[in-house]
Amino acid sequence: MTKPHINTALVLFLLASTPALAASDATRGAEVFRTCAGCHSLNMGDHRTGPSLANIFGRRAGTAEGFHRYSAALEKSGVVWSDKTLDDWLRNPAAMIPGNAMAFRGLPDARARGDLTAYLRAVSAGKAPTGVPGTPPLPDLKKLDPRQRVTAIRYCLDTYYVTLGDGEPHPFWEFNLRFKTDSSARGPLKGQPVIVGNGMVGDRAQVIFSEPVEISAFIRSSCQ
Ligand code: HEC
Repeated sequence: MTKPHINTALVLFLLASTPALAASDATRGAEVFRTCAGCHSLNMGDHRTGPSLANIFGRRAGTAEGFHRYSAALEKSGVVWSDKTLDDWLRNPAAMIPGNAMAFRGLPDARARGDLTAYLRAVSAGKAPTGVPGTPPLPDLKKLDPRQRVTAIRYCLDTYYVTLGDGEPHPFWEFNLRFKTDSSARGPLKGQPVIVGNGMVGDRAQVIFSEPVEISAFIRSSCQ
């Protein structure tokens, strides 16, 4: 006689707990968004590797203003972003829109996708859960420590000697120094490149210029 009793309790427990597990949760979704945050911001116009995902719902794919690197595949897909289309995309981007340029394999876990879409919806509605970290803001390269200003670069054999605001030349093996540009409003001032990424203490760094034409003009080849 006890057996059916236990089963009934179990069934009641499952009935009570299943809907709670199934409901999408924006706070959990914010955690899932960490997977996306390396490439996407949720702030309007803040394009990174991928376009800003601000106000994504109801928008046609490939139309975020000011993003210049869409693939033809995404632009021509005719997809309009909704819970359903986002779920398909996030499950397997390559299967939904072959030839797209998003280097992301997909989220096989349906609950994680549901939570993530709930989070994106909450953000669009201006009701994002509080206390969750977003995409970290990019640094303003005009406001770095003056010691991160690059005043000269000399190239000899396989080595760059980068003189910084401290007046010292710091040597880097040529393979460990990267040259980049940042033409955005956050970029460095014209003719005033900066060094980021442990330039003063580490063996690898990046020098960032305001535009490409400055790069070779700034580097002096000389072994004395
Ligand atoms: C490695 C970088 C990267 C990661 C990680 C990434 N994306 Fe993307 N995403 C992109 C790029 C690049 C595009 C543009 C793709 C194209 O044009 O084919 C894109 C496009 C999109 C679009 C279409 C936007 C539009 O304007 O039509 C959505 C939606 C999207 N991503 C959501 C996500 C979500 C959500 C995640 C996290 C689960 C994620 N992405 C992870 C780089 C990334």
